[in-house]
Amino acid sequence: MVESLLEVKNLSMHYDTLDGNVDAVKDISFTVKSGESFGLVGESGCGKTSVAMTLLQLQPDNSVITEGSIKLDGKELIGLSENELRKVRWDSVSIVFQGAMNAWNPVVKIGEQIREAMREHYPENSKQQNINKINELFKMVGLDESISERFPHELSGGMKQRAVIALALSCDPKLIIADEPTTALDVVIQDQILNEIKKVQDLLGLSLIYISHDIAVIAEMTDKIAVMYAGSIVEIGPTQEVFKSPKHSYTRALLDSTPSIRGEKKKLRSLDGEPPSLINKIDGCSFSPRCPTPTTQCKNQSIEMRLVKVGDDHFADQCCSGCVKNE
Ligand SMILES: Nc1ncnc2c1ncn2[C@@H]1O[C@H](COP(=O)(O)OP(=O)(O)O)[C@@H](O)[C@H]1O
Ligand SMILES: [Mg+2]
Repeated sequence: MVESLLEVKNLSMHYDTLDGNVDAVKDISFTVKSGESFGLVGESGCGKTSVAMTLLQLQPDNSVITEGSIKLDGKELIGLSENELRKVRWDSVSIVFQGAMNAWNPVVKIGEQIREAMREHYPENSKQQNINKINELFKMVGLDESISERFPHELSGGMKQRAVIALALSCDPKLIIADEPTTALDVVIQDQILNEIKKVQDLLGLSLIYISHDIAVIAEMTDKIAVMYAGSIVEIGPTQEVFKSPKHSYTRALLDSTPSIRGEKKKLRSLDGEPPSLINKIDGCSFSPRCPTPTTQCKNQSIEMRLVKVGDDHFADQCCSGCVKNE
């Protein structure tokens, strides 16, 4: 029996560009258990999508995995052939990405497009079996059965994204990766879609990797959270614990710049400055130039990013262990 559905260890990846290597994923490790929901949060450009694509081995041609292991259900994915990978992707993992609702083929009815995916995966199923399953999935994500007979342009953005979730579920994945799935939608619809994803995840006992730049959304959606900065995980732990006692200054800055989800009044502080370029090698803590409370240790060029234990199942970059002591 494999306890973790997904086990990522020391994963590093860069993009090869004319200006140099872009170190988008630096020595990342985390696990996702069966039925667990795991959140990846951080500002735009910190490497979240690169992690998601690397997990599925869908990263672009100019990317190079330099180190690490990705085990899904105990099976190593790095080094598998394209054919083997395709099977793993279909069998176990689905991804819902930000622009997914715009990826529907405009001239084919929605139901037909989902059936096409199901035909490849379950060739033995009859058309009626597939139709029944789609109707069930539509019900789950709050869509009327009649949507099957419509073309993409006849649906609103929210409906299209619900249909994407139904498509993602149609081949019975064990893990769903949702990469900013609601960012392009207005707030009310966003909230509805988040609820649908959560409901479906609970109902089907799926594992979920939820990726967002919005830490408030991650709070609602996940059991465990990893905070990414400049390609590294700087803090990781149970979501409630990280929210209650954030250890890394970047996590605190993210929380301080987000309106409280629990409604308590607090003064919002904006997070000044920009994340560093990932092309240049970063000496010392990558967050120290923006850190409100940097110590000499943080700027120490020989300090290496390393997670240390700061609580039960809770780890933060050693650089901020100084900030922890200052509490
Ligand atoms: N194909 C690519 N070639 C070169 N650099 C890339 C490529 N894709 C992404 N990047 C760079 O990698 C870094 C991480 O990007 P990304 O994973 O998309 O971050 P996020 O999803 O957190 O916004 C960024 O600096 C981005 O510009
Ligand atoms: Mg992204």
